[in-house]
Amino acid sequence: MFGDRVLSGMRPTGALHIGHFHGALKNWVKLQDEHPCFFFVADWHALTTHYETPEDIEASVWDMLVDWFAAGIDPAKATVFIQSRVPEHAELFLLLAMATPLGWLERVPTYKDQIERIKDRDLSTYGFLGYPLMQAADILIYRANMVPVGEDQVPHIEMTREIARRFNHLFGREPGFEDKAKAAVKKLGSKRGKLYLELRTRYQEKGEEDALEQGRALLASSASLSMGDRERLFGYLEGVRRVILAEPEAALTETPKLPGLDGQKMSKSYGNALLMREEPKALTDKVRRMTTDPARVRRSDPGEPERCPVWSLHQIYTTQEVRDWAAHGCRSAGIGCLECKQPVIESMLREQEVWRGRAQPYLDDPSLLRSIVADGCDRARHAAQETMRDVREAMGLAYS
Ligand code: TRP
Ligand code: SF4
Repeated sequence: MFGDRVLSGMRPTGALHIGHFHGALKNWVKLQDEHPCFFFVADWHALTTHYETPEDIEASVWDMLVDWFAAGIDPAKATVFIQSRVPEHAELFLLLAMATPLGWLERVPTYKDQIERIKDRDLSTYGFLGYPLMQAADILIYRANMVPVGEDQVPHIEMTREIARRFNHLFGREPGFEDKAKAAVKKLGSKRGKLYLELRTRYQEKGEEDALEQGRALLASSASLSMGDRERLFGYLEGVRRVILAEPEAALTETPKLPGLDGQKMSKSYGNALLMREEPKALTDKVRRMTTDPARVRRSDPGEPERCPVWSLHQIYTTQEVRDWAAHGCRSAGIGCLECKQPVIESMLREQEVWRGRAQPYLDDPSLLRSIVADGCDRARHAAQETMRDVREAMGLAYS
């Protein structure tokens, strides 16, 4: 189906921290109520950089999945799966590679940057160069049109759009396309068919983008079309090619600034992270020791919340009323930092208790986790296979 399909993935990094929750998972949880969603663990992506330590993958995958479900990802709503369990991703990656100019990959902004920056690993590999193309395959294979990601990933989504466009251009040719498209219009029914043709004319003759959007929406809601006819009609809206792979849109997740315990960016590798599931005592201790405005050396020194990383946590974890109290108390030295941190700690503990409760059944019975994910992998595979049938056919590989 076209329509509003959402897809996103994360590399397996093991137990997640609260930055992952507020920067990505919270948004995924919201999206699962609004759209069909596919969320996957990008384990092959982990190997593009960490191929020398494959022994870490297994535990990282399962630990991360527990945190997804702890966060509220609901397997009854979203399809949750593991990339390597859907080997069709690799087939599409291979086929897309045939027509992908090397320059497109070399020009991905993170590529040269990371090669130069990361000195402790050798990244001059074919796999590392190709990983944005693998990401394109991850997205295109589900015909996803919404990809929630952070800013750093936007160039990859842009390249994915170019890959899709090039694919449709090269392989969407079809003998007798116009006749087949016209026959497909009839299948829309007379009223919808007429509207479709009007929208097509408005777009093609006057370039009205909103007519194109409406035309796509009309097709997305036409459930009775076969996949082939759907591709033709999506393509016929714009020109004379089938649209076999849909162009996705990056749905930028606005990430709240969430500093680590030392005020730097929160990251497990910096050792300054608060995990989603900390022991309550450890969480309390960590926040109590967290860096504050350096100007507040003594309790009697006034401070400035804007210079304090704890203040960023207040933005997420406390009410306006509490924040007014904290800001005033800080600037007037009316409260101490430990007092100021207390409502943040309490709110965090409440949040983590919910996560802990959701995680427990999976910790008690790991086979539950395995079977839910196996089910997600089956569903994902089914969707991926549908696309691959069209891709193979378009590329001349469906012969007997
Ligand atoms: N490259 C992404 C990251 O590092 C993870 C990822 C892989 C992904 N495939 C994807 C994200 C497809 C969105 C869609 O965060
Ligand atoms: Fe930061 Fe609160 Fe201390 Fe002010 S009182 S420096 S905002 S922790």
